[in-house]
Amino acid sequence: MTTRFPDGFMWGTATAAYQIEGAVAEDGRGTSIWDTFSHTPGKTLHGDTGDIADDHYHRVEQDLELMAGLGVNGYRFSVAWPRIQPDGRGAPNQRGLDFYRRLVDGLRERSIAPALTMYHWDLPQALQDAGGWPNRDTAQRFAEYAALLFDAFGESVPLWITLNEPWVSAWVGYAIGGHAPGIQDTGQALAAAHHLLLAHGLAVQAFRARGLDGPRIGVTLNLAPTRAASPEVADVAAARLRDGNQNRWFLDAVFRGRYPDDMLEHYRTRADFAFVQDGDLAAMAQPIDFLGVNYYMRHTVHAGRGDGPLGINTVERVPAGIPTTTMGWGIEPDGLTELLVRIARDYPAIPMYVTENGASFYDYVDPEGEVDDTERIAFLDAHFRAAHAAIQGGVDLRGYFIWSLMDNFEWAHGYSKRFGLIYVDYLTQTRILKQSASWYAGVARANALEP
Ligand code: FCB
Repeated sequence: MTTRFPDGFMWGTATAAYQIEGAVAEDGRGTSIWDTFSHTPGKTLHGDTGDIADDHYHRVEQDLELMAGLGVNGYRFSVAWPRIQPDGRGAPNQRGLDFYRRLVDGLRERSIAPALTMYHWDLPQALQDAGGWPNRDTAQRFAEYAALLFDAFGESVPLWITLNEPWVSAWVGYAIGGHAPGIQDTGQALAAAHHLLLAHGLAVQAFRARGLDGPRIGVTLNLAPTRAASPEVADVAAARLRDGNQNRWFLDAVFRGRYPDDMLEHYRTRADFAFVQDGDLAAMAQPIDFLGVNYYMRHTVHAGRGDGPLGINTVERVPAGIPTTTMGWGIEPDGLTELLVRIARDYPAIPMYVTENGASFYDYVDPEGEVDDTERIAFLDAHFRAAHAAIQGGVDLRGYFIWSLMDNFEWAHGYSKRFGLIYVDYLTQTRILKQSASWYAGVARANALEP
């Protein structure tokens, strides 16, 4: 039996500005925290940076043609804040707007719906110098930047995403320190998470104030179904804590306008929460039009020892027998069904999109010039079926964006992880469609999976 997706289902690919654009010093772009971080010795594998990346800034026409060939009807990309406001404040830089105007128009000419993420981790360095996300003013700066984007692109972008994965921005950027700005401070991380959520809410308010007719707005969270590794009390408690940290902290804030009690109790011994002001929680819980879900793996949680960042000392191990990607992430497609069904069960009804899902494997160009990535095809096929099962279970899933359109700068892993449907030879910037790309084109065209 053929597995059919609902009519109008959006099949897309996803990227982020710093991971693909390059051209970091062109057309008035300012410096972002990722420029600073990647240029700091020891922060990224091999000292890799996004200076050139996929050179997409100069090759946007070619990349649009590649997308058209894939037959996708959606493309999720992010706008680099420092191209629009080099110092994170003030009048927009016209040349920055022009680049995204060309991209948005190019997508529409090819009947590909633009899904625009306003923040995918490249905070203007000037705002970090003023305190970064732990500084409340950054939320206000973001709302102003968002308003510039709404005014420039409002009606031509059907899907607006305020933030990509505030969990990563706050926890990995400010508590663990593995991402820009590389800070390890629990208090700063909690304040950062709060101000990110506030920024999201203020941007949604600015969006509504414009009364745009048609375009919709939401947020993308990286969520993970979470299980205790054993029935031991300590493991069960660890899994609950990790679920609170990863999922409920953000979902409860966005959908219920509150932080979960158990997590507040946990975090309160580590920060004074003076950063929460009257009205903040209501502001961050503005009604949104859809939820973006990034799914990569399930968390199987063991209790750890000692006190980790944020007082979270859990250990996640991929259970024996589960295959992994080259990120070391377990391949558990049924986790996607579990996750989507759980969100639909625990939170108010809302349309959802998988805004990222995909895998890195050891891809290489064979002597025939082909990239035979059968593992990726199997991975995607299984995850699409898992998404379909969620739809059958009543989840209002509207679309699916593969991470990623093409191989790119994988943050602290540099260029060592290949997630693309398109292979990129970084020395020549040659793009080669992997077999998964042709396979995906077939799925998108048919809006269905063959048995
Ligand atoms: C997500 C990020 C994306 C990419 C994938 C692999 O957390 O949003 O930029 O790095 O992971």
